[in-house]
Amino acid sequence: MTLTIILAECGLELIPDSIREYPSVKKNISRDNYSSQLLDNALHHSVMKELKNNLKRGRPDILHLCLLNALGAPLNKSGNLNLFIHTINNKLFKVSPEVRIPKNYNRFKGLMAKLLIENKIEPDDISLISPIRKSLDELINQQTDSKKIIFTRKGKLVRIYTELFTSNLSENYVVVIGGFQKSTFSENILKISKNLISISDKSLHSWIVVGKVITYYEILSNII
Ligand SMILES: C[S@@+](CC[C@H](N)C(=O)[O-])C[C@H]1O[C@@H](n2cnc3c(N)ncnc32)[C@H](O)[C@@H]1O
Repeated sequence: MTLTIILAECGLELIPDSIREYPSVKKNISRDNYSSQLLDNALHHSVMKELKNNLKRGRPDILHLCLLNALGAPLNKSGNLNLFIHTINNKLFKVSPEVRIPKNYNRFKGLMAKLLIENKIEPDDISLISPIRKSLDELINQQTDSKKIIFTRKGKLVRIYTELFTSNLSENYVVVIGGFQKSTFSENILKISKNLISISDKSLHSWIVVGKVITYYEILSNII
């Protein structure tokens, strides 16, 4: 049985044209430096106020931490984790279990920018993150044999982790975790499932939720 994690509406995108000409943005963009092409709230905070939906954008660091957490987990090493990145602009990528994500944040940003610009990454870089040529809806509709859970602070609070997944893990699960800083899921995501679950009475960082969900699943499936 497998756990599929969709990191949804991740704040990963190239700097939008509408703010590229601002002097504070333009001065840091370099054609030779892929990482400078990525929208990053830490660098573009003041002009990001111009962007619609800005609370969910410009946070590649969230995706970085989620990927490091998920890919390093025993569940991934055992071959029972499927991982997808869905971006705020509806791009969808499959992450191979073998991918080696750079620990260095700037290198990670460079590779993500290259992925968005060239829609591929050369083998020696990070060959194993590949674009999926279908919509999130199509991907979800294919998972007919899986239970679907959306993790959100606004969901039904589950205090006992054994209630999250069936005890003998006789079913496949698709779980959705937001890859953004603030705000809530769009309607497009919420229509994936009516099963909205909260695992804490506090709002947690995405990477903490990724870590907890994977750990609960590992314990219940006896993967150490
Ligand atoms: C920083 S939060 C987004 C902020 C939003 N106010 C929230 O708490 O859901 C990023 C993601 O972490 C997950 N998350 C955060 N707190 C959670 C909780 N208490 N229970 C379940 N998932 C949570 C959700 O998937 C959320 O989209």
